[in-house]
Amino acid sequence: MTLKGWVIYNGHLPGPKFKDFAEWIREAGEKQGTDIAIIPNDHLLSFHAENGPTILQKEKTNFPDFVLYSDKDIPLARTIETMGIPVFNSSHSIELSDNKIETYQRLAAHHLPIPRTMVAPKVFSGSLQAETFLSVPEFFTFPFVVKEAFGSFGEQVYLVHTEEELQQKLLDISNRPFILQEFIETSYGRDLRLNVVGDQVVAAMERTSDNDFRANVSAGGIMKPHTPTAQEKELAIQATKAIGADFAGVDLLFGKDGYPIICEINSNAHIRNIFDCTGINVADYIVSYVLNQVNRGKK
Ligand SMILES: Nc1ncnc2c1ncn2[C@@H]1O[C@H](COP(=O)(O)OP(=O)(O)O)[C@@H](O)[C@H]1O
Ligand SMILES: [Mg+2]
Repeated sequence: MTLKGWVIYNGHLPGPKFKDFAEWIREAGEKQGTDIAIIPNDHLLSFHAENGPTILQKEKTNFPDFVLYSDKDIPLARTIETMGIPVFNSSHSIELSDNKIETYQRLAAHHLPIPRTMVAPKVFSGSLQAETFLSVPEFFTFPFVVKEAFGSFGEQVYLVHTEEELQQKLLDISNRPFILQEFIETSYGRDLRLNVVGDQVVAAMERTSDNDFRANVSAGGIMKPHTPTAQEKELAIQATKAIGADFAGVDLLFGKDGYPIICEINSNAHIRNIFDCTGINVADYIVSYVLNQVNRGKK
């Protein structure tokens, strides 16, 4: 019997960029003889009552054998898991990846190389004062990175050079959760993106920017294919496993002497840029890995 899948994406994000992944997954499924339907998250409503959790569907179909989750709607993913349907990536790994505070906590617990990171205390209203951090002897020297817990495309990542800049940033961030982080200056405008699927690095690129410390392509970074070292590959795989993801786009920074340092793990990495850069279609690897896992009944 052939397996049937769903790929769930967020129905309320602007532009085609967010549906891209879902379409590539559906096509990869077609090539591999599996029907994968594309479904926006808001066509599926988590419903809970005494007879258990379920999903109310807009277009009623049979529940699938597996779900590929291209969204960050954690409660929906969790309901689907509770119904016994395997979800890739798991809701827990997406949650850890989405929240940079939880990501670094997990990586540090695994003793993996990360920039030294301090988590800002929670505030309910107003904002913290620069003084909270500057009086700590372990504090980093300027410049250092301020990073919001939730963000992408480099848009919520800042480099602060002075106490005044820090104070202004704290005001801008207000009561949103954030971290302060050592600036890896050997990686200024330069990083690596490794795409991990299962136990394998399937594609890699280097990104460089001439005019910004952030190397994100959406922030102006230029891509070039990269052949990862054994150490880089190992680290990207360990990082992916540390958050319990089945596949991920892992960003690595260049430490001293090129020593790799984990920057972040994207459980919901877009795959068009890496395809444009390397010609490698990560969706093919993801679908074949997922079908393998489901067939083996591993999840
Ligand atoms: N601690 C750091 N030191 C140096 N550069 C960093 C550091 N953290 C992030 N960067 C740069 O900023 C970019 C965006 O940061 P990242 O944590 O990956 O956030 P996002 O989720 O927005 O991509 C990285 O790709 C890297 O180029
Ligand atoms: Mg990133």
